[in-house]
Amino acid sequence: MDPILAIAAIDRLATFGRGRLGVLLDADDSELRSTVLATLPESIEFVCIAARSPEAVAPAVADVLAARRRAFVVATSEEIGRAAEVAGAEAVIAKGHEAGGWIGEESSFVLLQRLIGRLRLPVWAWGGVGLHTAAACFAGGAAGVVLDSQLALTRESPLGKAARQRIRSMDGSETASLGGDLGAQFRVYVRPGIAAVDDLRAAATAIAVAEDRTQKLERWRSELLRAVGWSDPDRQALAIGQDAVFAAHLADRFVTVGGVVGAIQAGAIDHARAAQLESPLVEGSSLSISHGTRYPIVQGPMTRVSDRAEFAAAVASAGALPFLALALMRADEVETLLDETARLLADRPWGVGVLGFVPAALRAEQLEVIRRYRPPFALIAGGRPDQARSLEADGIATYLHVPSPGLLTLYLADGARRFVFEGRECGGHVGPRTSFVLWDTMVRGLLADFPAKADPTEVHVLFAGGIHDAQSAAMVAAIAAPLVARGMRVGVLLGTAYLFTEEAVASTAITPGFQSAAVSCVDTVLLESGPGHATRCLPTPFADDFIGERLALLQTTASSEEIRNRLEELNIGRLRIASKGVDRHPDYGRDPAAPKLIEVDADEQRARGMYMIGQVAALRNEVISMATLHANVSSGSAEALRQLALPDGPAEAAQPPAQIAIVGMGSILPGASDSATFWANIVDKVDAVTEIPASRWDWRQYYDPDRSAPDKIYSKWGGFIDDVPFDPVEFGMPPRSLQSIEPFQLLGLLVVKAALADAGYATRPFNRERTSVVLGAGGGGADLTAG
Ligand SMILES: Cc1cc2nc3c(=O)[nH]c(=O)nc-3n(C[C@H](O)[C@H](O)[C@H](O)COP(=O)(O)O)c2cc1C
Repeated sequence: MDPILAIAAIDRLATFGRGRLGVLLDADDSELRSTVLATLPESIEFVCIAARSPEAVAPAVADVLAARRRAFVVATSEEIGRAAEVAGAEAVIAKGHEAGGWIGEESSFVLLQRLIGRLRLPVWAWGGVGLHTAAACFAGGAAGVVLDSQLALTRESPLGKAARQRIRSMDGSETASLGGDLGAQFRVYVRPGIAAVDDLRAAATAIAVAEDRTQKLERWRSELLRAVGWSDPDRQALAIGQDAVFAAHLADRFVTVGGVVGAIQAGAIDHARAAQLESPLVEGSSLSISHGTRYPIVQGPMTRVSDRAEFAAAVASAGALPFLALALMRADEVETLLDETARLLADRPWGVGVLGFVPAALRAEQLEVIRRYRPPFALIAGGRPDQARSLEADGIATYLHVPSPGLLTLYLADGARRFVFEGRECGGHVGPRTSFVLWDTMVRGLLADFPAKADPTEVHVLFAGGIHDAQSAAMVAAIAAPLVARGMRVGVLLGTAYLFTEEAVASTAITPGFQSAAVSCVDTVLLESGPGHATRCLPTPFADDFIGERLALLQTTASSEEIRNRLEELNIGRLRIASKGVDRHPDYGRDPAAPKLIEVDADEQRARGMYMIGQVAALRNEVISMATLHANVSSGSAEALRQLALPDGPAEAAQPPAQIAIVGMGSILPGASDSATFWANIVDKVDAVTEIPASRWDWRQYYDPDRSAPDKIYSKWGGFIDDVPFDPVEFGMPPRSLQSIEPFQLLGLLVVKAALADAGYATRPFNRERTSVVLGAGGGGADLTAG
């Protein structure tokens, strides 16, 4: 940023800002930092340092401390968080993948868990924070939350009309992170036709193949500086987060920055309190009763992993609901698996996971077997309500993955009642929205769109993506609290966590090699074959090959479909190598003596396997039993919620009572029927004094320029208000009563109404205990008549 502009902005902040103030500085821009710190007004107490590498943290924090300011560090990874701790920062802000601008791979949900668990410093959350997820941050132990894109449509937001329009129509899928191949991700708003974004994409690919890493990052940074801006969204890249999807609702409901902040603060405490009382994930919850399981926990279908009856039996014995993954299995394989499972599970509940998008003939084959065995449950990924309805007609309770708020509205209208909301941090194929963004949107959608007269107990909601222990489950419980209060049934669906169980290996769902790779994992990568086709995996040699091949293909003239097909081909058979340690025999089908599968040794498994896994793998480093896993998630989360220290009264009670803010004004004045017109009149030097209008009284009868003339007035001028329409019914007054009411009172009602509306209170809830209206009236009212 230009230092002159930065200093001017800081001066405005210091002049007009109230309360505790701070600035955010880029750790890589040491020149700007020294200029700003040298001239920083005393009233600016905090300096946040946004660092993209751990090495950049120490010098920046040292400068801030030398300037006697409180240092916060924005961390997109654990390494940056640790560097902040060592450098003496006061707090760390965990900035998740869903936020706008510079980001890392981990979502706020996962990064928050990671940093809270591993750092001694207080940790704040940045990214995906909304009315419901703020409660999750609080329940998970965050010290505070950061709001930015969420405030884009508030009254105070400086954004122009064009940017506002784009943000207002968002559904959460309109942003993308660019620069992943460079290891320097940056999130912007992307829609076809924004040249700056197309150029950025092309630049990212071109820079990624360049040799020197420092040079690469410098070039990428300068491309971004050129492309990013806020004034012209047709030509510039808006650096907003997925969470800008919350902006329209928050601004419509809470209008001002203060309104949104107050609502988020109050919501966090209210949700946490409700979750504390209800503990939605305890044994015997309404969802577990409906499932017939001990816990409201579901094991999600996992291709090439949950394809063993013994694994399903272990999950069921430990009190959760298991799902087999049928993936691309042919009828005979499905038959064998269902037959074994039905016998082994007997009367315990279980389900099948099918993929809604497999070729129609294969789906028909699978469904024919499913209908014969009638498992109590099914789950369709990428499916539609009609597919669920047809299984439900056969008595199979069927869950649908719902990836977007638009689909939720359609599915609800179509009668669907069982939903899985799975965020981008999950293992395997991922959708665009992170768990926080998806969950907040979906909870709001369910509360708003579920018909008032329908039976809420029919609604079954499974939260998935990044859930694996007491802390993460407590966070989900806080998000889900309003659904539970409405009578809906909620639970959690886990995938990755099961890869860390003793039973996963004992039941041969995965090999010991897969499990040890999982245990030693420190992060995950996304393998993207094309837009909307991404798979989360361990960063193994195969992942490197895939990324290298992708970059090479991007340099060619191949179409995106050709690239996708080529990359998908690379994936074939790789998951089985990782999970089961076997590969297809090269001569199978040609040589009658060749078996279908051959074992691969540990080195080959590691080199060629694709280890699908979710982000929480990086947070887990031990193998436990399924019983322990379930107990942690269920009773562990209830215990974590119980231990939360909540303020006694409502959230606002803690605020100092004697501060007054004027947040709205209304007026009816001569020549101005509202405050905006009055202000415009002042600015334009409009003289609102006129000759006494004939509609009031005829001045000619009383006027005499001679000041001493008895019973006469010597002025024929005055300030007169125009006729004011007044609808008594709006205020609950019988029209006939108007004649006997002093017109000043009626004007008073209108002015108060305008002042409340100006504060945004016409359309949003507000604290009536702490709101007052100061009313002033002047001038003669004697000649006013109501009629
Ligand atoms: C190895 C693996 C394979 C998966 N295969 C499928 C699948 O075939 N069908 C499906 O609906 N989900 C699949 N998933 C997703 C899981 O069912 C579940 O939704 C996800 O793992 C939950 O997120 P988590 O991994 O953060 O717990 C898979 C996940 C993993 C880790």
